[in-house]
Amino acid sequence: MYQRIRPLLFRADPESIHGWTLTALRCSGRVGPVRWMLRRMFCWPDPRLRTRAFGLGFENPIGLAAGYDKDARALWGLACLGFGHLEVGTVTRFPQAGNPKPRIFRLPDDEALVNRMGFPNQGAEAMHRRLMRRRPPGVRIGVNIGKGKDTPLEDAADDYLELLRTFDGLADYIAVNVSSPNTLGLRRLQARDHLERLLQALVAERPHLSQSPPVPLLVKVAPDLTEAELEDAVGAIVDAGVDGIIATNTTLARDGLLSPSQTETGGLSGRPLRERSLACVRAIVRLTEARLPVVAAGGIAGPEDARRALDAGAATCRR
Ligand SMILES: Cc1cc2nc3c(=O)[nH]c(=O)nc-3n(C[C@H](O)[C@H](O)[C@H](O)COP(=O)(O)O)c2cc1C
Repeated sequence: MYQRIRPLLFRADPESIHGWTLTALRCSGRVGPVRWMLRRMFCWPDPRLRTRAFGLGFENPIGLAAGYDKDARALWGLACLGFGHLEVGTVTRFPQAGNPKPRIFRLPDDEALVNRMGFPNQGAEAMHRRLMRRRPPGVRIGVNIGKGKDTPLEDAADDYLELLRTFDGLADYIAVNVSSPNTLGLRRLQARDHLERLLQALVAERPHLSQSPPVPLLVKVAPDLTEAELEDAVGAIVDAGVDGIIATNTTLARDGLLSPSQTETGGLSGRPLRERSLACVRAIVRLTEARLPVVAAGGIAGPEDARRALDAGAATCRR
C-alpha cells in the first residue's frame, strides 16, 4: 500500500506529511471501528514473536523509534499498526520550537532522510497529561528524554532527573537521549566522565520514585563514536547499572550518497545508516559479552533488516 501512495506523499514537504500522517493516526485511534479495521490489517499476534528485554515482556520485537510521535499524540492509532513498543519523544522539560523550517530533507536516491529538527515538542507537562489518560493495551510505551536547548551542559543532569521524576509510573522504560546531533553539545554527554555522572544520578534517583520494580533506563548512543569512545561509553553505561542501550541515533556521516540534499546539516537516517548501526550493535554485544540488551535502530526497513539486527544480538529493534 505504501509503495502505491508514496509518489503522492513525496509531492509535499516531508514535515507536512509527517504532521498529516500523525493527525490521521490520532483521529483513527479515536474511532473504535477504524481501530478494529486497522488491527485486522496490521496486528497478527503470534506467540512465537513474544520476547523479553530489560525485565519487560513485549508482544513482538519490533518498535517505533523516537521522533515520529514526539508528543505522544497518536498512541491509540499507532498501537493498531502492530508494534510491540512505541517510543515517544524526545521530550524536553519545557516546550520548545526546535530549529527553523525546513528541517527535514528527503534523499530519495539513497532511501534516506536528513533531519535537524532540534527536539520540537510541547514539553513534559503536555506529555504527562496525555500519558495519564487511558492507554492502548498490549503495547509497551517508552519515553525518550532529552536536554532542553537552553540548558547548559553542566546542568543537563537536572533536566534528565526532572523528566525521570515527571514520568514516574507512566513509562514502561525511559530512553536517555545523549546522541541527537541537532542539539548543540548534547553528544558531549556521551564522554565517559559526563555520562558516568549523568547515569549515576539517574540510577540513584530511581529508588526514590514510586515505580516498582524501578523503571528500566536505556541510553541511546550515536553511530559516530570511535571504537575507543564507544568502549568508554559502554563502560560508563555498564558501571552505572543501566538496563540497556539503543543503537543508534542518526549519523553525521555522508559517505557514498547520491542525492543533492546530502549537503544539508543534520542527522542522516535510513538505508545508508544500516551497516553503521549494525556494526555498532555488534560492537556493543561484544563489549558487554551480550549481558546488556541492545535495541537496534537505523535503516531497518523490512523483515530481512530486522532479522539481521536480531541475529547480530539485538533484543528488539526499531523502525
Ligand atoms: C525526522 C526524525 C526525527 C527524529 N527525532 C528523534 C528524536 O526526537 N529523538 C531521538 O532519540 N531520535 C530521533 N530520531 C532518530 C530515530 O529515532 C532513529 O534512531 C534514526 O532515525 C535511525 O533509524 P531509521 O534509519 O530507521 O530512521 C529522529 C529521526 C528522524 C528521521
